[in-house]
Amino acid sequence: MTACYPNTRLRRTRAHAWSRNLHRETMLTPADLIWPLFVTSGKGVEEPIASLPGVSRWSVDGIAARAKEAVDLGIPVIALFPNTPHDLRCEQGAEAHNPDNLMCQAIRAIKDACGNEIGVLTDVALDPYTSHGQDGLIDAGGYVLNDDTVAMLVDQAVNQAEAGADIIAPSDMMDGRIKAIRMALEMNGHCNVQIMSYAAKYASAFYGPFRDAVGSGGLLKGDKKTYQMDPANTDEAIREVALDIAEGADSVMVKPGLPYLDIVARVKAAFDVPVFAYQVSGEYAMIEAAAAAGAGDRDALVLETLLAFKRAGASGVLTYHAAHAARLLNG
Ligand code: PBG
Repeated sequence: MTACYPNTRLRRTRAHAWSRNLHRETMLTPADLIWPLFVTSGKGVEEPIASLPGVSRWSVDGIAARAKEAVDLGIPVIALFPNTPHDLRCEQGAEAHNPDNLMCQAIRAIKDACGNEIGVLTDVALDPYTSHGQDGLIDAGGYVLNDDTVAMLVDQAVNQAEAGADIIAPSDMMDGRIKAIRMALEMNGHCNVQIMSYAAKYASAFYGPFRDAVGSGGLLKGDKKTYQMDPANTDEAIREVALDIAEGADSVMVKPGLPYLDIVARVKAAFDVPVFAYQVSGEYAMIEAAAAAGAGDRDALVLETLLAFKRAGASGVLTYHAAHAARLLNG
């Protein structure tokens, strides 16, 4: 052994907590989190979702209370998804355009309760409103029509903006919808309403509990493979992101999250735009099931997975663990 062996000891900086703190490359804070919430009708209603243990649907008053909680926790944005009453669902998803639908009521309630202390992100897609559970209009064979759907999405987005939405998040994967929505927002005086595009959204098996939560799961026949991306593809994600940026997206999203961190990292390396990731319902359920089975410590699993998104290059993460994680981070 020579006197200077080993020259480099990477364990040296790991030896004490103060040093690990000093050398940490990535930070996770509550400001990195976006909290998805499910809205349901009624008053004073909380409906637990069996496939998402710990997550509930809330009536509008409960959503406003969650928004106040988010402000207190330092969470900057709430994402809204409606569980539209089944008698209001139809082939065309017309309820999406109702200025008094659950989404619009929830947006207004949050703005009344919190003003601009919190941002409201709204999902644009027709699946919570259609009787067939697809994200768009279908033809006789069940194929989702692109351009006809885009026209509907434009109206849906403007309806949400009129109610006070801050960030429009189209999750439908139709071609050309970002440009159409951007133009409509500009023409209707909503030039400061942002668009966070679900740019690289995959046809994933991880969305099951979400579909239970918005009540579309039982309605959906077939799959969404003719519009959501093939999980085998990565070059195509780059093309999707490039198009959405060119069409006017302010930020882009990769979805699902953990199994797609390579996409997050590649998108971040390729473009100078904020990239967000969605840790989706099936991922949440997986973590909860692992913790319940004693396969890992829940809090540690939550914080490690969320930190991994930051390390991969994400500006922030949509996660059902947002409130819990923020509480842990706030100590
Ligand atoms: C629908 C939409 C989905 C999710 C967000 N928006 C489901 C789908 O595409 O079928 C999934 C989110 C999750 O699983 O947590 N437009």
